[in-house]
Amino acid sequence: MSKIDKLLNELNNKINFIQQGGGEKRIAKQHESGKLTARERIQKLLDEGSFVEIDAFVEHRCIQFDMAETKAPGEGVVTGYGTINGRLVFIFAQDFTVIGGSLGEMHAAKIVKVMDMAMKMGTPLIGLNDSGGARIQEGVDALKGYGEIFYRNTLASGVIPQISVILGPCAGGAVYSPALTDFVFMVSGTSKMFITGPQVIKAVTGEEVSPEDLGGAKAHNQKSGVAHFMSQNEEECFDQIKKLLSYIPSNNLEDAPFKETGDSPVKILPELDNIVPVDPNKPYDMKEIIKMVVDEGDFFEVQPLYAQNMITGFARLSGHSVGILANQPRALAGCLDINASDKAARFIRFCDAFNIPLITFTDTPGYLPGVAQEHGGIIRHGAKLLYAYSEATVPKITVITRKAYGGAYIAMCSRHLGADQVFAWPTAEIAVMGPEGAANIIFRKEIEESSDQIATRNEKIEEYRDKFANPYQAAARGYVDDVIEPSATRVKLISALEMLMSKRETRPAKKHGNIPV
Ligand code: HXC
Repeated sequence: MSKIDKLLNELNNKINFIQQGGGEKRIAKQHESGKLTARERIQKLLDEGSFVEIDAFVEHRCIQFDMAETKAPGEGVVTGYGTINGRLVFIFAQDFTVIGGSLGEMHAAKIVKVMDMAMKMGTPLIGLNDSGGARIQEGVDALKGYGEIFYRNTLASGVIPQISVILGPCAGGAVYSPALTDFVFMVSGTSKMFITGPQVIKAVTGEEVSPEDLGGAKAHNQKSGVAHFMSQNEEECFDQIKKLLSYIPSNNLEDAPFKETGDSPVKILPELDNIVPVDPNKPYDMKEIIKMVVDEGDFFEVQPLYAQNMITGFARLSGHSVGILANQPRALAGCLDINASDKAARFIRFCDAFNIPLITFTDTPGYLPGVAQEHGGIIRHGAKLLYAYSEATVPKITVITRKAYGGAYIAMCSRHLGADQVFAWPTAEIAVMGPEGAANIIFRKEIEESSDQIATRNEKIEEYRDKFANPYQAAARGYVDDVIEPSATRVKLISALEMLMSKRETRPAKKHGNIPV
């Protein structure tokens, strides 16, 4: 055997050893638990043949406990770059078959390298998390690794899109890297996220809870709001990631990807004229309006299970990617509450950071009353929504379909928070408060002194409704740019959006604002 053949043989043996990860048995266990391996995941997510691995030969240098003799192929994480639908992305995939995908010093160094490269190249960073957390044997070196990742997550925030995919356990401080990123994907049954697991909780508080109920996909998509997308299996999860990427740019200096959809920009939608019920207390499904208005009825909802009184998601209008926010009259009558404010504010800030115009559909009777809301800090959380809309400099267009009362009128991207165009349907009711509440206060005396209080009250409610529960007072001041036929909503939105594509708005220089977090 020649020298070069020997060297090539050695190289191939090393590569084979690294590529078999934790070995057949552990791979079989991984498959049995409904999970793919790190390499299989990368192959499935990236364009075929596009993945280029880096740092495959990295090794840990821990000698504590049995680590001196422990081999960790690939250091428990596969890193590199490739393309998704032709666009460059950097990626890391933790390999649970290698020391439980635990994060040691060199494992972290591999992740840090792809994070730095993604920042330099201006590409999305995708992290596939499947790990037992900090590698216990490595002590503070493992903690340092996490710290360096958190630091970079923060530097990259608002510069490149960061996507976290939870495909196994994610425990302890390990959950904080995903929490610092823009979108968290979870798979039903296999993904878990918690700071302290069920056993610690039982020991400290006595509460008994299963890992799934505590930190499974449903818990974080529905209750905590930590996650944004839930899927039934890994394949579905990867499809969701690809779909999300189709709406967002690779970095903050790029425009969002434009995609010709072929849907007519001058389409009139007669169905919209009758969609708002005559009875102002009757709900309807705001998602139906959104789907009718956007290109091809294709609305990609973000956090569909969380704070359902606020709808957030991506769509296209004449091919342009837009972020859509809307009150949902079907859930809590579309009231704004703590969770809805948080959900909306974060979505607005993502869109603004990545040059995605904001379209807002308003139908809200106001903020949700209640002691729980007040003591939970609705003042502070609600303020985030005001802050996020005011801070956003992307094109902002608002359509008021029905109720826009009080503080909620201002908060839902009114002209006063910088909306560039505000449209109202003739069914819009824009006032300080709803007719019932208003009549009780301003006509209290007349109602009390009347011989027929019920009739007088109804009369006064109607008087108030006629005067204020319409869009024309706001339009008379120029707070509403146009009162439009609902059927023309798509046409008006596209025309306004195209007019706004060259929008430039600068703000006073500052280190950063102080959003009420
Ligand atoms: C070292 C670990 C490990 C870890 C798992 N392993 N987690 N090794 N450090 N953190 C090893 C196991 O010893 C085992 O090795 C292999 O990985 C597979 O783990 P299993 O336990 O057999 O798998 P499973 O039954 O599926 O259970 C998975 C698990 C469990 C739930 C994740 O392993 C677990 O509870 N691990 C510890 C979780 C944890 O407390 N991590 C530290 C969090 S604190 P062998 O050789 O037997 O196959 C933290 C601080 C970060 O992360 C702070 C950042 C700011």
